[in-house]
Amino acid sequence: MRQAGRALPSYRALRERYDFIELTSQAELIVEVTMLPFEVAPLDAAILFADLMTPLPAIGVSYRIVEGVGPVIADPIRALQQVDELSAKNVHDELPQLWEAIKLITKELPADVPLLGFAGAPFTLASYLIEGKPDRTFTATRASMSDGRFWDSIMSRLTELSASYLQAQIDAGVEAVQVFDSWAGALTVDEYESHVFPYTKRLIDELSGSVPVIHFGATTRHLLEPIARLGADVISIYHDIPIDEAWAVVGPVPVQGNLDPEAMRADPATMSDAALDVLRRAGGRDGHIFNLGHGLLPDTPVDNVKRLVDLVHEEGSS
Ligand code: CP3
Repeated sequence: MRQAGRALPSYRALRERYDFIELTSQAELIVEVTMLPFEVAPLDAAILFADLMTPLPAIGVSYRIVEGVGPVIADPIRALQQVDELSAKNVHDELPQLWEAIKLITKELPADVPLLGFAGAPFTLASYLIEGKPDRTFTATRASMSDGRFWDSIMSRLTELSASYLQAQIDAGVEAVQVFDSWAGALTVDEYESHVFPYTKRLIDELSGSVPVIHFGATTRHLLEPIARLGADVISIYHDIPIDEAWAVVGPVPVQGNLDPEAMRADPATMSDAALDVLRRAGGRDGHIFNLGHGLLPDTPVDNVKRLVDLVHEEGSS
């Protein structure tokens, strides 16, 4: 449950004392925030507390998280020269607090609860760098696809960055990684196939044989067929398609999903019905990881999270 932290009163209390980037700058704080969701429910996995943007300062791009907006960078990158000027620093040397936190978290978690790491897919990172802020239409990003040298240069640089960032997480002890191509769903199939797929595939290929790789994209029902060809070990299914229909498209690969996060804000009976519908459609087949289709919404009642985890555990064991 991505960005689950925002729904927890204990997370919001910590945010009164620290800003977001401070929270990701100290190992003890990263450990504390990563473990917060376990105060609410006995979850089956933990997600490292960091952000898609966390590795960017290592290549010389600083960012802020603006409340209600998301990540904002000072100087959008729109010219080849700016890509050439990105720092060649090694991400492994730049984020020692994260590797230390991963070691501490894996010691603290029960042996049967894995820690998941994550990174941005090249396109989703590129969209933040090129637009400078979250943007639903991605006008500048899509326009820059037609400048072949610029596009290949920025996408290749971000593919390398995410590969080395994920490898460093794996070396420190994460047991699976999720690649977030959150905004790929805004693209047409042609745009995705020619300008995005090759880079995400390169990233996933570089990690193959290490730990399981989970691919995530939002509003991707039209892209499921190429996404299935990326070679990820698990495919996250957004809630824009029933999970059984999506599974039929992606073929015999484990899937994760796909409860609508909006259902988590409904009354308990409505929430349970929606969760049971996902379980019914998954049909008890091997390879279904119950999850939401996207992150928890900020004002989700914590009691519903607890209820959901209990319900899925009960249904899963019956
Ligand atoms: O639940 C967790 O804490 C897991 C850690 C996590 C965060 N971001 C922490 C975070 C993860 C896995 C992410 C991934 C992430 N970050 C994605 C991919 C997932 C998705 O939603 O598709 C994206 C697109 C981002 C970029 C980003 N960072 C956004 C859109 C926002 C939210 C901005 C807002 O105010 O709504 C952030 C900030 C962020 N990252 C928060 C957290 C807990 C909230 C910031 C805060 O505390 O003010």
